Amino acid sequence: MIPYQQMFCILDYRIVSHFTEACIGLGVFDYLAADPLPLSELVKRTGTHQRALYRCLRGLAHFGLFVMESDFTVSLTDVSRHLTLESEFSLRSWQEFCQLAQSAQHQQRRDLWEQLLRTGKSIYQLGRDRLFYDYLREHQELAAAFDKGMESMSRIEVRDILQGFDFSASEHLTEIAGGNGMLIAGVLRQYQDVQGQLFDFPDVVNRIEPIPRLKTVGVDIHRVLPNIPGDAMIKRILHSYSDEQAHNILNHVSNSMGSGNKLYIFELIEDHLTNNPYIGIKNLQMLLVHGAPGGSGGPGERTLAEFASLLTRAGFELLETQRLPSIDAVVALRR
Ligand SMILES: C[S@@+](CC[C@H](N)C(=O)[O-])C[C@H]1O[C@@H](n2cnc3c(N)ncnc32)[C@H](O)[C@@H]1O
Repeated sequence: MIPYQQMFCILDYRIVSHFTEACIGLGVFDYLAADPLPLSELVKRTGTHQRALYRCLRGLAHFGLFVMESDFTVSLTDVSRHLTLESEFSLRSWQEFCQLAQSAQHQQRRDLWEQLLRTGKSIYQLGRDRLFYDYLREHQELAAAFDKGMESMSRIEVRDILQGFDFSASEHLTEIAGGNGMLIAGVLRQYQDVQGQLFDFPDVVNRIEPIPRLKTVGVDIHRVLPNIPGDAMIKRILHSYSDEQAHNILNHVSNSMGSGNKLYIFELIEDHLTNNPYIGIKNLQMLLVHGAPGGSGGPGERTLAEFASLLTRAGFELLETQRLPSIDAVVALRR
């Protein structure tokens, strides 16, 4: 992890504690104390939503709490054994004391997190009866703050992308769901001959100050998209959507692009399902904010095999991947 990622983790470490507490409340550690269990059995015993529990355990695995085999067998580790009642050095009484000492508000929040794991619904659906982006649209001050927050997260990624990639061969570049345009604006500043286009929700593009050579278009990326002349890029979008939704978005992108053009996906590649707290926290954040819709993977970070499968199904050929200090890149060709 680079220092930026370390700081990001420190700011959001509570998410790890809250999901761990929710797992204690649902009996996850107790059911696994004797033996590893298939995920489906653990789901049955805990009364949880399979995809939500899977994404939660996949996130917590990065903190050494679980091991998930490729056949979806889940086991505890030397770290998480300290949360079982049987352990000679169990920390459960300490955890119980901490709960008792906390406020009723904390208890309510814990109930909500357990409900998330039982239902697969996001914290926004459970607490505010809205999907995250719908809630933002109805609260424009919060939406503007979100744009700025994303911009603060993007700055280091944009620097790394501009250092790691040469876009001079692209005559036209479209950024899909580009927020307030930090990435595409950076590319246009560096490459004076490139023309740009940015898609995002209408209210988001309405908040963008004009940027030279950039056309902004209000769209819903779940629906048919306007023409995408030349290459395209999409940063930190697919991880907030399930495989079904991500496939739908990539299909629309593919249908709007001409063959032989490139799609740059900037996201984290989750190659190993353990020991990367930054990826662990991102996984848990996506689960918290977007829930776990759909019958297959996501939302959350994906392995290269998961990206490859999505791309192939949408008519792209995987060309290369690149590790940048703050983000990874998957480059694909529209067939
Ligand atoms: C996590 S932010 C990322 C913004 C930018 N790509 C970045 O990396 O800084 C997600 C962006 O996707 C946009 N978005 C999400 N779902 C969308 C949809 N269905 N249609 C259009 N835009 C969408 C949001 O408005 C937001 O600007």
